[in-house]
Amino acid sequence: MKQTILVTGGAGYIGSHTLIELLNNPTYEVISIDNHSNSSPDAYDRVKQITGKSFQQYAFNLCDQEATNAFFDAHPNIHGIIHFAAFKSVPDSVADPLGYYSNNIGSLINLLKAAVKNKIKNIIFSSSCSVYGNINQLPVTEQTPFEKAESPYAYTKVAGERILEDFIRATPGIKAIALRYFNPVGAHLSGLLGESPINKPTNLVPLITRTALGKIKSFTVFGTDYNTRDGSCIRDYVHVSDIANAHVLALEHLETTAKTYDVLNLGTGNGVSVLEAIASFEKVSGVKPTYTLGPRRAGDVEAISSDCSKVEKALHWKAKYNLDEMMLSAWKWEQNL
Ligand code: WQD
Repeated sequence: MKQTILVTGGAGYIGSHTLIELLNNPTYEVISIDNHSNSSPDAYDRVKQITGKSFQQYAFNLCDQEATNAFFDAHPNIHGIIHFAAFKSVPDSVADPLGYYSNNIGSLINLLKAAVKNKIKNIIFSSSCSVYGNINQLPVTEQTPFEKAESPYAYTKVAGERILEDFIRATPGIKAIALRYFNPVGAHLSGLLGESPINKPTNLVPLITRTALGKIKSFTVFGTDYNTRDGSCIRDYVHVSDIANAHVLALEHLETTAKTYDVLNLGTGNGVSVLEAIASFEKVSGVKPTYTLGPRRAGDVEAISSDCSKVEKALHWKAKYNLDEMMLSAWKWEQNL
């Protein structure tokens, strides 16, 4: 019998790419919940087009405990949950901290309460490299002690991990993994699915591709005076399909050998500056987007990259795609949008 996996935020960027990996795997059947606060149901049509498979969809806010309970009452056989649904913009969180705390923490707590009632076995939580804060010694391992969270967004992930860990310790029979994504970018290689926030994008790659296509006039490189090789921030960009694939491996791991609670970094190990990311885009697309060099953005860390040894061993996972492939896939998607 197939295992039913609930994907929250399934119409979102990483959620929709993960739906593809799950639907293409004969072990799973999928239900998605998404309130479309920053996504469109069109993403579901694209997932169906790519996989040829259908799945159930629900639209409500997981901060609504009654709606969440009603959903779980109607679906007693959910085996595992992948919880993507959350806000994820560093600058938006600086502008609206209460919105970020109530959405990201409130939905997690409601979901965990329902998980106990329904005897869910496995949970995967979307965490973020932003939990580490500003670290001097790179790359970061899962053992690297956290520095101060630089944004409310980052703090929702620090708190989310802690809530989950405490919950797992107090709740026999449930296992969980927090996956710390570095910077997921790129799009499905078909060009049919990619990042399509309905709100104004704040992430670098959609800003690059939209500017290159003339949908946006220009963007700003935030900070040129960081202590890095070219003065701009360093991030570890990782292809969204690599990230999606890791979720399926993490589900298998939870089912077999995983400890009751664990955390894993998901990155490539390569630190890339903002200016290097733009240069890669220019190389693969042949287009030079207009940008200006500007001041630092509040909430940013200077540099971060992942030590990948733990995830390589635990999940036998290694990112497949390089930066140029990430940029080319994002560009193909933007032109198809
Ligand atoms: C990348 C770099 C900006 C916009 C993201 C996600 C978060 C997460 C971690 C997981 C930074 C610079 C950006 C612009 C710029 N984890 N930039 N001009 O903040 O690293 O966080 O990764 O999923 O969810 O949001 O990503 O794409 O906003 O920024 O110069 O207009 O690009 O300063 O150095 P960030 P980002």
